[in-house]
Amino acid sequence: MLASKPGLLDEVRSRFAHVDSCPFEGERVFFENAGGALTLKSVVDSSARFAAIPDNQGRDNPASKALQAIIDRAKEDMRVFFNAPGGTFFVGESGTELLFRLISAACLGTPAGRVLGSTLEHPASRSAAARWAEVAGKPHVLVAHDDATGSIDPAHYAPQITPDTRVATIIHTSPVTGMGTDVAAVAAAIRGVAPECFIIVDGIQHAAHGRLDLAGYGVDGYVVSPYKMFSRHGYGVAWVSDRLAALPHDHLANAPGEPWELGTRDTGAYATFSDVVAYFEWLGAQVTEATDRRARIVAAGEAIHAHEAALTQAMIHGVGNLPGLADLPGVSILNGADNARREGLVALTVEGMPAPDVVAKLRERGIRTHTRKADHYSGNILRPLGLSSCVRVSMCHYNTEAEVARFITAMREIADGA
Ligand SMILES: Cc1ncc(COP(=O)(O)O)c(C=O)c1O
Repeated sequence: MLASKPGLLDEVRSRFAHVDSCPFEGERVFFENAGGALTLKSVVDSSARFAAIPDNQGRDNPASKALQAIIDRAKEDMRVFFNAPGGTFFVGESGTELLFRLISAACLGTPAGRVLGSTLEHPASRSAAARWAEVAGKPHVLVAHDDATGSIDPAHYAPQITPDTRVATIIHTSPVTGMGTDVAAVAAAIRGVAPECFIIVDGIQHAAHGRLDLAGYGVDGYVVSPYKMFSRHGYGVAWVSDRLAALPHDHLANAPGEPWELGTRDTGAYATFSDVVAYFEWLGAQVTEATDRRARIVAAGEAIHAHEAALTQAMIHGVGNLPGLADLPGVSILNGADNARREGLVALTVEGMPAPDVVAKLRERGIRTHTRKADHYSGNILRPLGLSSCVRVSMCHYNTEAEVARFITAMREIADGA
C-alpha cells in the first residue's frame, strides 16, 4: 500500500491539482474519479505551454520540428505505458468518438458475419456496434453480463461466439459496477472460435487503475479517455493493431501512410500524455528498485491496485472502530461486498432514500460522489437489479484512509437518518 512508505502519499497528492478542494465549492473529498480523475499539475503546465505555441507540424522551422519530436516521443511513451506490440497510437476527439471510429472500420471492413458485445458495456461501444453493425448488414448480438459479479466472463460470451464473429467488443472495467473483466481470457475464448475477429476494448474506466498490458490481451483496438487517467479533457487515445490499422478508414485521400489522425494534431494533448507516463514512472521508482521504464510502470500499477484495494476494503469493512458500509443498516453494496474484481469503486443504495438525496447529503458533508440512474448510460446495469438509481463512490490511488473514514462517518449519519 502506498500509505506504508512514509511521506509517499503526501508526495503523490502534491502532484495533483485540486486534491482536497474544489475551486467552486471549497474543501471537499473527491470520490468522483470515475467521472474524471484529478489532473496532474505537470499536465496543467504542459497544457498552458503548448496552448501558447502557434506553430504547426510539418514545417521547415525549429518550432515545427520540436512539436513533431514531442508527438513522436509521446507515441513512444504510449508504447511503453500500454506495452503495445506494434500497431499505431493516435489521438481523437474523445474516447467515445474513437470507439465509434474503430468499431465502424471493423464493421465495414469485414465480410458478412456477426458483431458481438455484452450488456456490461458503456453505451459508447454498444451504440457504435449497434449502429455500424446495422449499416454493414451484420447482426449485433449482445450477451448478458453476470448481475451477481457486475462483470462478464468468457463463459458468458462462449455460447454466442461463432466462426463468423467478425467484430467483438469488450469493456475492461464497468464505470457503474467498478468491476474488471479478464480481457485476455475473453479475447482468447473469441479467438479460439473466430481467430480473425477484430476485438475492440473500451479501457476508459480501467486505465487510471494501472496494470495495462496490450501484449498480453491479444486484441486489435484499445481506447482510453485521458481525463480519466490524470491528464485533461479534449482528447482520447486509441491503439490499433497493424491488421486493424490496415482496414479502410477515414483519412485524407492520398495521405502518406493512410493515417488515422484527422486534421492538425494538438501537440499539447500528446505532451500531457507523456506527463502521465512520466508520473507512472516516477511512482514506480518509489516502489521498486528496477530502473527499466516498463518495470517501473508495472510496479506503479501494482502499487495503485494494492492501495485502492485497501481503500475499498476499509470503506466496506471499516477503519479502526468505525464500521464500514457492510455493517451499516439499510446500506446495500452492489455486486457483493467482497468482490475481487473491484477497481476502486463502490456502488451502493440506502434503503428508503433515493440515491440523489444520499449524494446531496454527502455533498453537504464535503464529499463528492455521483448518482447513476437507470438511464441510457447505466440502465443496462441497474434495471436487471431492480434499481432506479445508485450512489457511485469512486476512488483513485491518491485518496487516503482518512478520507474513507470521513466518508463512512458521514454514511453512518445519513443511514441513521434514513
Ligand atoms: C467505460 C466507459 N466508456 C466510455 C465512456 C465515454 O467516455 P468519454 O465521455 O470520455 O468519451 C465512459 C465515460 O464515463 C466510460 O466510463
